Amino acid sequence: MAIQGTIARISGPAVIAEGMMGARMYDIVRVGTENLVGEIIRLDGDTAFVQVYEDTGGLTVGEPVVSTGLPLAVELGPGMLNGIFDGIQRPLDKIQEASGTYIDRGLTVNSLSREATWTFTPTVAAGDELAPGQVIGTVPEFTFTHKILVPPGMGGTVKSVVAEGEYTVDDPVVVLEDGTELKMAHPWPVRQARPVDEKLDPVTPFLTGMRILDVLFPLTMGGTAAIPGPFGSGKTVTQQSIAKYGNADIVVYVGCGERGNEMTDVLVEFPELEDPQTGNPLMQRTVLIANTSNMPVAAREASIYTGITLAEYFRDQGYSVSIMADSTSRWAEALREISSRLEEMPAEEGYPPYLASRLSAFYERGGRVTTLAGEQGAVSIIGAVSPAGGDFSEPVTQATLRITGCFWALDASLARRRHFPAINWNRSYSLFKDGLDAWYRENVAEDYPELVDQAVDLLQREADLQEVVQLVGPDALQDAERLVIEVGRILRQDFLQQNGFDPIDASCSLSKAYGLLQLMLKTYEQARAALEAGATVDDVISAPVIERVNRARYVAEEEFAAYRDEVAAELEQGFAVPA
Ligand SMILES: Nc1ncnc2c1ncn2[C@@H]1O[C@H](COP(=O)(O)OP(=O)(O)O)[C@@H](O)[C@H]1O
Ligand SMILES: [Mg+2]
Repeated sequence: MAIQGTIARISGPAVIAEGMMGARMYDIVRVGTENLVGEIIRLDGDTAFVQVYEDTGGLTVGEPVVSTGLPLAVELGPGMLNGIFDGIQRPLDKIQEASGTYIDRGLTVNSLSREATWTFTPTVAAGDELAPGQVIGTVPEFTFTHKILVPPGMGGTVKSVVAEGEYTVDDPVVVLEDGTELKMAHPWPVRQARPVDEKLDPVTPFLTGMRILDVLFPLTMGGTAAIPGPFGSGKTVTQQSIAKYGNADIVVYVGCGERGNEMTDVLVEFPELEDPQTGNPLMQRTVLIANTSNMPVAAREASIYTGITLAEYFRDQGYSVSIMADSTSRWAEALREISSRLEEMPAEEGYPPYLASRLSAFYERGGRVTTLAGEQGAVSIIGAVSPAGGDFSEPVTQATLRITGCFWALDASLARRRHFPAINWNRSYSLFKDGLDAWYRENVAEDYPELVDQAVDLLQREADLQEVVQLVGPDALQDAERLVIEVGRILRQDFLQQNGFDPIDASCSLSKAYGLLQLMLKTYEQARAALEAGATVDDVISAPVIERVNRARYVAEEEFAAYRDEVAAELEQGFAVPA
């Protein structure tokens, strides 16, 4: 029996319904005569507090509120890649098609197409024992192999399997002895983490292709990172670059537009991004979740859970998934707005007291795991935070930095000076870095960690000397100190800076980054020797080899080893010392 109550009050995106005895937290309800979609987010006796995923304008007190008895769920199966969905997984093109420019309210559209057919190749046979999470067949989607899974919590003996062929997501592909039908898609409640066999330690890096991140503040496969930064400092560009070049099989991008048309930009730009792995559109291995500014705040609140659930589903197939949330501050504002409409007691800056626990519930769903089927998969989470005025002491930034393993602090002053990526290397950190040393020694070079330490040390000494220069002017410096400033500049301009719009420099492998460091540190070493032998800093800096060191980042990966060897040999000759 459906539980039916009535609207007692309407407050923006929130509706308070009475007579809801028996309804459960997080149940989906249909609100009003127009059947708007809502979710119960608080229960108090027979009073239900409902956040409504659609415009509540026109609702009136006394209209019905009917519980569906089901939680907010997404549908997981073929047809999500190359898709653009709203915060509750309604395909944007379908809702627009069905309702014109403005989204009709109470509209029911399927998340996955009912008509589309997929080529299903079974991997199980009659008589097989199936366990939860096991692969029962595969479906090609562009160049991706979508693995169809036994939903968590299900299993049994296979009675029959369809032959390889074309099926829709409504066709049963496997029937179990007990009559259970398995299809290519299954639902999953978004606020519940999908089960795994085991969470694993982070031991391998998630490579982004951005030198400052991969070398100084590395993320791990399955790790979490925050990108805080004021408006215009490069959060969106950084996330798009990681979506494109990061070593994930699948990308889930949750956009919560900051300004009116920013999400529109993403909706236009993203489909144009090319996948460097295949040359095909990046969208073919991406799911985009878009919250445009005209969508109700409740859908924005749900969108990060929708996103992480999709990410977990691909992880459960044994893939590496990256999920970007841009920006979680907009998500937190949605949470704040709904909370204030429900007249909850506010905490800091009006955010609800459960802000931090909600944020950690999201980030905790990242990780590297052994799946139920015994494979390895990972969800790596990169969340942007946009504190007003770049003030990192505000609640969302503070709550986030206590949870995430990497803190990539974007800096407005670097962005103003066109130092991109504008990541402040003094304020950023990674809790994963030291734990990766063994991996670096084995996979990049035995002395890689030491080389990185030397570079960090030089950057630090340069920063200290720059302060001295600020105070007393450059004349106070000795030649050896001026050299530190010059090499520090090379490290900043030709290692930390990276041109996201240059086809070669946009992404850099760790071995190339290592090679760049080798050249820059060798420059320092040889220059010091030259100074001791009587050369001046100007003699060193004007040497032609310096320009070859500066240009090294623009040398293609395939040609880089040869280039590095040549320049290294040149450096080995030493700098000319005037007689
Ligand atoms: N890595 C980069 N390389 C070059 N330009 C960049 C880079 N990052 C940001 N920019 C510049 O800064 C502008 C604002 O970046 P954006 O990512 O939109 O900022 P945010 O999302 O923090 O508001 C971009 O339009 C671009 O011109
Ligand atoms: Mg942005």
